[in-house]
Amino acid sequence: RFTTSKYLPLSGKKVVITAGPTRERIDPVRYVSNFSSGKMGYAMAEAAVKLGAETVLISGPVGLDKPAGVTVIDIESAAEMFEAVRTQFDDAAIVIKAAAVADYRPREIQPQKMKKQVGDSVIELERTTDILKTIGSMKTKQILVGFAAETENAVGYGIGKLESKNLDYIIVNDVTDPDAGFGKDTNVVTLLSKNGTHKPFRAMPKKELAILLLETIIKEESDQLN
Ligand code: CTP
Ligand code: CA
Repeated sequence: RFTTSKYLPLSGKKVVITAGPTRERIDPVRYVSNFSSGKMGYAMAEAAVKLGAETVLISGPVGLDKPAGVTVIDIESAAEMFEAVRTQFDDAAIVIKAAAVADYRPREIQPQKMKKQVGDSVIELERTTDILKTIGSMKTKQILVGFAAETENAVGYGIGKLESKNLDYIIVNDVTDPDAGFGKDTNVVTLLSKNGTHKPFRAMPKKELAILLLETIIKEESDQLN
C-alpha cells in the first residue's frame, strides 16, 4: 500500500540516508567490498521523498538510477561516507544507515598495481570508523535508524547493535531467508526499537516495505517530529 494522501508527514524535515557498499582500495585496480546492492537504501530514499522529506542520499557505488527529488552524494570509501554523513548530520531529523560499510580497509593503498611475488599472500587491514556509533554518541535530536543483515541470530545481534550504537531503531534481516538479502527486490525484516518493541514485517517488495517502515517510525516519533 503506497501513501496516497496529500498529507506529507515529513514535509519541512531533512532525512539523510546512506546506501550501498563502500569500496576500500588495495591498489589502483583492486578493492575490498561486499555484496550490498543499495536497493533497500534507495527504496528508503524514495519513500522519504514520497512522505515529503528533503532527502539526502549518501551512496556507495551501485548500479541504480538516482531517485527523483533526492540530493545524491556519491562516495566510494567508508572514510568518504563518514565525512559526508558528518556534514549532513546537524540539521537532519532522521538519519537512516542502510549502507553496508566495510569494517576493514587495507592499511596502505599501494600506488602501483601490485605484482605477485613470494610472501605476498597477506594484505594488512585496519578497522574503519564505525560511522553510526560515532554519530550515535553525538546525536542531539536526530532519530537514528540502523540496518543489520545477519546470517544467524538477527534479532539478538540487532538488540546489541541498537544499544551499543545508541540507536532509536534498527531494522534487521536474515540474508539466508529466500525472500531477503543482497540484490533481491524483496525483503523480510523486523523493526526493533529502543523501547524494546519488535515489529516483524512479512516478505514484500523493498519499495513497499520502505514506506511501511518509515510510516511506522513517523507514527512512533510523532512528538519528536513535531
Ligand atoms: N555501520 C557504520 N559504520 C561502520 C560499520 C557499520 O555506520 N564502519 C552501520 C551500518 O551502516 C549499519 C549498522 O552500522 O546501519 C550495522 O552494521 P553491521 O555491519 O550489521 O554491524 P557492525 O557494528 O559492523 O557489526 P558486525 O559487522 O561485526 O556484525
Ligand atoms: Ca559490519
